[in-house]
Amino acid sequence: MVDVLLSSLVPAAQAEACPSGPTFYLETFGCQMNVHDSEKVAGVLLSRGYRPTSDPDRADLVLYNTCSIREKAAQKVFAHLGRHKKAAGENRRVAVLGCVAEQEGERIFERAPWVSLVCGSASYRRLPELLDRLEAGERRVTGLGLDVDETFETEVTRRDHPFRAYVTIIEGCDKRCTFCVVPSTRGPERSRASSSVLAEVRRLADSGYTEVQFLGQTVDSWRDPGPPGLSFAQLLLASAEVPGVRRVRFTTSHPRDFGPDIVQAIDRCPTLCEHVHLPVQSGSTRVLERMRRNYTREQYLETVALIRSARRAISLTTDIIVGFPGETEEDFALTLDLLDRAQYDGVFAFKYSPRPNTPALAWPDQLPEQEKSRRLALLLERQREIQVARNTAWIGRAAEVLVDGRHEARNQWTGRTSGNRVVNFSSPASHLLGQYAQIAITQAGPNSLVGEQIL
Ligand code: 5AD
Repeated sequence: MVDVLLSSLVPAAQAEACPSGPTFYLETFGCQMNVHDSEKVAGVLLSRGYRPTSDPDRADLVLYNTCSIREKAAQKVFAHLGRHKKAAGENRRVAVLGCVAEQEGERIFERAPWVSLVCGSASYRRLPELLDRLEAGERRVTGLGLDVDETFETEVTRRDHPFRAYVTIIEGCDKRCTFCVVPSTRGPERSRASSSVLAEVRRLADSGYTEVQFLGQTVDSWRDPGPPGLSFAQLLLASAEVPGVRRVRFTTSHPRDFGPDIVQAIDRCPTLCEHVHLPVQSGSTRVLERMRRNYTREQYLETVALIRSARRAISLTTDIIVGFPGETEEDFALTLDLLDRAQYDGVFAFKYSPRPNTPALAWPDQLPEQEKSRRLALLLERQREIQVARNTAWIGRAAEVLVDGRHEARNQWTGRTSGNRVVNFSSPASHLLGQYAQIAITQAGPNSLVGEQIL
């Protein structure tokens, strides 16, 4: 299926990888935006005759699409770069793309002089030109800077996920949270025109995708830059009407921009997935103020109540940072208490990590690493119990999944519900990938459900 979709998105002559062309290895770190950016980069490389390889030690061109949201993620890249030091002196070219590229810029050449291309996500439109220079033998090529117009055009995107198509609808972020590196790595907020978004959704549906996922760092801050001036909820509804589309997802929402019209749209239209990812970051208003999140604990809980009052059982997931500078025991207790009140279906929790070019980096009241670890473990333990209880409530019910994998060893299929729950299930069928199946849920764990296909 991947090949069919690929050839429908890349002009046929270009998709035929030239058997003697150079090979590339592309590895992605971080968020779904990065995953999707890598699809765009791979599309450009394929259209130039490069062939993909899964072995970094044999590739002519090695590219790391990097993440700098936390320090660990950023450091990982330098460890990977180290292994190419020798080969890069011979015939391998090494490229650093994405957020570490944007953040570190030319300093990467000092730290890893064998790197020859450094390119931030806002410059991917320039990749053909940058690759020309690299191929001509230039040793230090850069695509940096955030001063961009549209960066959404993706005619040659190589789609890696066979059943879910990512669509960037808004780039960058203007929120300026005091912990977050994104505004300095991905630049200011730019919304993509609804006409362009809907044209891409139509193209994807025509090529066989039934599920699309809209992406943005703050996806619900999307505003139609031109006529017809749709709201975000209207864009969701319009994309759900595209023939062939059976599921529309979106991530990540910012609580400040999340309005009742989004919940109403989900209630009205079954094609819109019953899942909202709404990062709270902290349950303490005092900490939220210092994070510059622009909402209080109470306002956030009102939004949760709005989501819970929907007719559909909308899954709610979140991100939380523990050990933000100045976070007291009382603040942390408020975060634990918020878990009980919000009853999340999933939580991504992180220890605060000081980041360059962010205000909180220089604040004096940093917490010891050990204390951050203690709080993280407590939080995960509390949340695990909540998830077990919430998933257990599914036993005896039926759920529709889009089947996206197979575990041969366990003789099980796997898929996701509209609410984004993972379901592992048994079925006598021999072909299910990419199809929708009704599953009777029989067991539940903290992170997934188990069931049997209803035939
Ligand atoms: N330290 C720890 N976690 C962070 N995140 C963003 N910046 C930091 C940081 N400096 C988390 C937030 C965000 C998620 C993608 O990563 O929870 O929602």
